[in-house]
Amino acid sequence: MVYINELAHHVDQEVELKGWVYNTRSSKKLFFLVIRDGTGLCQCIVNKDDVSEQVWEAAESLTQESSVKVTGKITADERSVGGYELHVTDIKIVQIADGYPITPKEHGVEFLMENRHLWLRSRRQWAIMRVRNQIIFSLHEFFQNKGFIQMDAPVFTGNAVEGTTTLFSTEYFDDTAYLTQSGQLYGEAMAMAHGKIYTFGPTFRAEKSKTRRHLTEFWMIEPEMAFYDLIMNMELAEEMLAYVVDRVLQNCSEELDTLERDKDVLKKVTAPFPRMTYTEAIELLNSDKTKNMLNEMETSRKQELENLKKEKEELDKEYGQAKKGRKVQIDKRIREISMRTDDVEEDLRNIPLWREKAMSIKWGEDFGGSDETILTMHYDRPIMVYGYPAEVKAFYMKRDPEDDKVALGVDVLAPEGYGEIVGGGQREDDLELLRKRIKEHDLPEEAFRWYLDLRKFGSVPHSGFGLGLERAVCWICGIRHVREAIPFPRMMGRLYP
Ligand code: 4AD
Ligand code: MG
Repeated sequence: MVYINELAHHVDQEVELKGWVYNTRSSKKLFFLVIRDGTGLCQCIVNKDDVSEQVWEAAESLTQESSVKVTGKITADERSVGGYELHVTDIKIVQIADGYPITPKEHGVEFLMENRHLWLRSRRQWAIMRVRNQIIFSLHEFFQNKGFIQMDAPVFTGNAVEGTTTLFSTEYFDDTAYLTQSGQLYGEAMAMAHGKIYTFGPTFRAEKSKTRRHLTEFWMIEPEMAFYDLIMNMELAEEMLAYVVDRVLQNCSEELDTLERDKDVLKKVTAPFPRMTYTEAIELLNSDKTKNMLNEMETSRKQELENLKKEKEELDKEYGQAKKGRKVQIDKRIREISMRTDDVEEDLRNIPLWREKAMSIKWGEDFGGSDETILTMHYDRPIMVYGYPAEVKAFYMKRDPEDDKVALGVDVLAPEGYGEIVGGGQREDDLELLRKRIKEHDLPEEAFRWYLDLRKFGSVPHSGFGLGLERAVCWICGIRHVREAIPFPRMMGRLYP
């Protein structure tokens, strides 16, 4: 079988492509048929003079997403999508699709989400999933090359990891089980057996907030390393991210083009990343530097809004007299303007709130999404914030030996407003202190007995972190919402398809 992404090896040969109809266009004598086969797109040309009447009729009967086998000779053509064309000699219809709901015109997000099972075939969604695949592959490659062992943590668990407020519970025979929020605690046990391990699996959080960063089911990669302190942990995290971004740039160039991702931004993702303590981050949020940056942003957004309005008025005026082709262009630009206007207006509503929040945040409070956004806006690369107030972090975090109020935790915040993509830190390795923390957090000691054992039998300093896969996909692809970063997103209010 020949696939579209292998056509370079088949120039001047006759091949059969099997796929689906992406698009059709016809004139009196020529019929243009764009086929997709999962590996790419190929324009197939039917010339009425060269084919039998049956083949011409078959071409004319094709509807969007009909499944077909198309035979013909391959020629190279730079102007054509994918760089090659097929000159049709035969068409075999597999199935004629019946009124495909997703047409080339614009659709609302709700409609597309309802049709996620079909939406996955669209070009942008296709590109996102290819990048996701590359990220997953590169993560395995990175850790395997470094001698990490992949081990899997259970999904049914008896205890909370990341706080009790976001637990999904389910019947487990006569007991209650929770869907895991993180594989970490098991990862710690596995690291004591193998030294350096990682888990990679689905994790669950009953997040009641509908934001563009939150799913209820998401995939997390979680390395855990014996004898690593916080700094070694941070070095590993930045090296991992730089590696993955580099692999995506190397291997998914076309996909990034389809997504109109600015590659120069990604090329800047090299280690070391800027680092700051939580205390320094609070100072930066409260500073004049932040205030001025937000003021400038507000001014430039207002100006942009003016410009967008003007452009729209001019296009509206032009529309009446425009020719058909130009009208299509104008429609497209007006849609873009309308989308951008929504974004700019949203920013203009948000900036005063962000400013207010940043100016007033005090040591001890957790960052909100806007605080993370603001912090990253000061840099062109991901940043690492470490040394958080122990109060806002999980029970297992080790405290700073110099300051008991501080936990040795780190978050990696992605630029361009994406915010936290990695969370991790050094773990408490002292039995009595860990016991105390479990009590302080009102967690049932019984459920953590096995976890406490790790501090009884050869306890060592150790660290790890978790990378949220969908957050990473969003950032690397430059898309707005995590719902497009996973094949079938699960969020509050969404269980189908
Ligand atoms: O910061 P979190 O809660 O850390 C942990 O779960 C640690 N136990 C990980 C570890 O140290 N092994 O989550 C880690 C990452 C976040 O930085 C974010 O990228 C992602 O998981 N994440 C989510 N992604 C999508 N939807 C959600 N609701 C998410 N919650 C966390
Ligand atoms: Mg976190």
